[in-house]
Amino acid sequence: MNKYTHTSDFLRNKFDDLSDLEKVDFLQNLEDYLKRQDSSYYQNNISYITDAEYDKLKALYEKILTNNPYIKGKDYLNSVGHKPSDKFEKVSHKIPMLSLSNIFDRNGVGEFIERVRRYLSLDSNVNLEIVSEPKIDGLSATLIYINGNLHIGATRGDGSQGENVTQNIKTISNIPHKIEDPNVPEILEIRGEIYMKKSDFFELNERMQKEGKQTYVNPRNTASGSLRHLDVNVTKSRKLYFFAYAWGEISCNIADSHFEVLDLFKGWGFDVNPYTNINYTYEDIIKSYDDLNEIRSSLDYDLDGVVYKVNSLAYQDRLGFISRSPRWAIAHKFESEKAITKILDIEIQVGRTGSLTPVAKLEPVNIGGVVVKNATLHNEDFIKGLNSEGESIRDGADIRIGDQVHIIRSGDVIPKVVDVNIKDRKKDSQAFIFPENCPICGSPAKRELNESSGKVSSVRRCTSGLYCNSQVLGSLEFFVSRDAMNIEGFGGKSMELFYESGFIKEPGDIYTLQTRQSQGEIDILSLEGWGELSMNNLFQSINQRRSVSLDKFIYSLGIRHIGVNNAKLISHQLASIENLLSTVENITHDPNDALQAFIQNDGLGKVVISSFLSFLQNNKNISILQNLLKSVRVTDMVMEISEDTAISGLSLVFTGKFNSMSRSEAKEQAERMGAKVLSSISARTDMLVIGEDPGSKVKRAQEHGVKVIDEKEWLSLLDI
Ligand code: IVH
Repeated sequence: MNKYTHTSDFLRNKFDDLSDLEKVDFLQNLEDYLKRQDSSYYQNNISYITDAEYDKLKALYEKILTNNPYIKGKDYLNSVGHKPSDKFEKVSHKIPMLSLSNIFDRNGVGEFIERVRRYLSLDSNVNLEIVSEPKIDGLSATLIYINGNLHIGATRGDGSQGENVTQNIKTISNIPHKIEDPNVPEILEIRGEIYMKKSDFFELNERMQKEGKQTYVNPRNTASGSLRHLDVNVTKSRKLYFFAYAWGEISCNIADSHFEVLDLFKGWGFDVNPYTNINYTYEDIIKSYDDLNEIRSSLDYDLDGVVYKVNSLAYQDRLGFISRSPRWAIAHKFESEKAITKILDIEIQVGRTGSLTPVAKLEPVNIGGVVVKNATLHNEDFIKGLNSEGESIRDGADIRIGDQVHIIRSGDVIPKVVDVNIKDRKKDSQAFIFPENCPICGSPAKRELNESSGKVSSVRRCTSGLYCNSQVLGSLEFFVSRDAMNIEGFGGKSMELFYESGFIKEPGDIYTLQTRQSQGEIDILSLEGWGELSMNNLFQSINQRRSVSLDKFIYSLGIRHIGVNNAKLISHQLASIENLLSTVENITHDPNDALQAFIQNDGLGKVVISSFLSFLQNNKNISILQNLLKSVRVTDMVMEISEDTAISGLSLVFTGKFNSMSRSEAKEQAERMGAKVLSSISARTDMLVIGEDPGSKVKRAQEHGVKVIDEKEWLSLLDI
């Protein structure tokens, strides 16, 4: 099997530790992997890895080649883009369409200026003008005008050959079909970026969503797919735009500087990006970069960096090219996991367990290829500028609607607000007031005191439990989720639809849907997006889940603090649903007794037990439970006990923290293998199994002459 199938396979490998043969294999795999990513990006407009991962891999590839000059014959780095698709006629670029080298930090800016000055042997008193332009995140195109008439429009393709997309390009409203100036050069090849506006992208996605179709990932990929569509009407309907920033063949000299050429382009009716500056110093360049980074979320098109170009065309000529990129230009990329954007609003979301989470609604910003519109603000204290210890963070700056904030998005993690700029805050801005009532049901929302730590929780919770719509919906979604009852067909917003229509008010209603539908009590087919087929599929998946084991059942109830493991432990103790129902009886008679019964099972913490018992003390929960049991058969918890193992028949005690599994898991495993697990040491104990920080039990074991083994010995005993 191939060792290299994921990005992480390359990143975690230490290239220098590999043998020569392995090195060749590694590099070949890395090259193939990068080519596959290029192909899906350029040909199919799909990115399977994030921009950050791509940049890391490319940088690794470059580093290996630089550090190992004996590895020859790799021309991958010299290739740009990808082979043009066979769908279109090919166009050979007379002047190749090249790519830019990237830099990722400010040092790179200093080095670029130094390199250029050194190459041109410029004295320190000679000025060097550098033009900065936004790096538009679209796809590059070239437009050939003959005597002012648009003759050919083509994509970049692999840099030497592109695709002839003239008809599609002619649908772009800000590309002139004719240049009216009588002095326009006979041959004029204008290059630039085709892009889709963010607003049009969101509108398109909203439409797709309404029609129940798959939505697009980002404006760049959508623009690329739209331009390279065989049906010109599709391209037209997608509203694409063009910014001119470069050129290919021009039949006569038209200017002395890049900036002057751009001015001519404007005069001929092309859009040139308004944030194009001439910079005279390193500081000017950095300011242009920072300014663009700050405003980028407010622009209606995506940028992924800033391009710096030597302004003088005479200097550009002297500097020429190195492999496939100009020496006179460089791209300074924005950080691929961070961005600055504005908070448009702060919304409070209510979770399944009633927690109130503040979510920043953002001016949409593209972070590494993903459009981010929401980011968590964690909790009330974070907004105020306090950490969980009550100490001040960000120099005590609070966060308000209208503020510019820094966002981080890495991997699949929910985007987070990490910092705030308060220097441009408006004078009349108001501190955000965190609600003390649940925004959904209006009940008081409280911050509980954690008895063991003596601290007030950072999370405010709605106190009305299943009387709160948001918590009911959250619980229903949890009930059908994969680790719980695993009922397929309620994905996306379906459960919300069933809940809002009143067809499902509690879990038991799920199982009566089919009967109610056939008796005409409800009409599922009237719900948006639902038809016979989807409805029957749903009934089928519900019917497949009418029987469930006790632990899954308890877990599905979504009781606070009761995850998969705790649900298993509770189920082992209760063994059957009948015992669970008699616990309900017991609690009403003697809550303390019920608590004691559970406390003897030392795998369960006090917080877990009281959470479980208080769930069972709530009448509404009991009625929900009973309705559910009318339709669901809960099977007893039977532990399959092996008789012939190294530990069968032994009495064991576990203590300390385990690394390879939780202590409760270790105990359950021991029981399954025929051992008896006790909570305290006595002379009858056969063995004490210790994890980290075992505490006083070790001493007691020694006093009783009980054998003590650590986690490693325990695992080898189990043969793991
Ligand atoms: S100049 C010979 N300027 O970035 C240099 N490129 O990584 C030609 N891009 O292929 C490119 N904005 O698709 C240049 N202001 C800008 C740009 C820009 C976006 C894209 C373009 C190019 C890629 C290079």
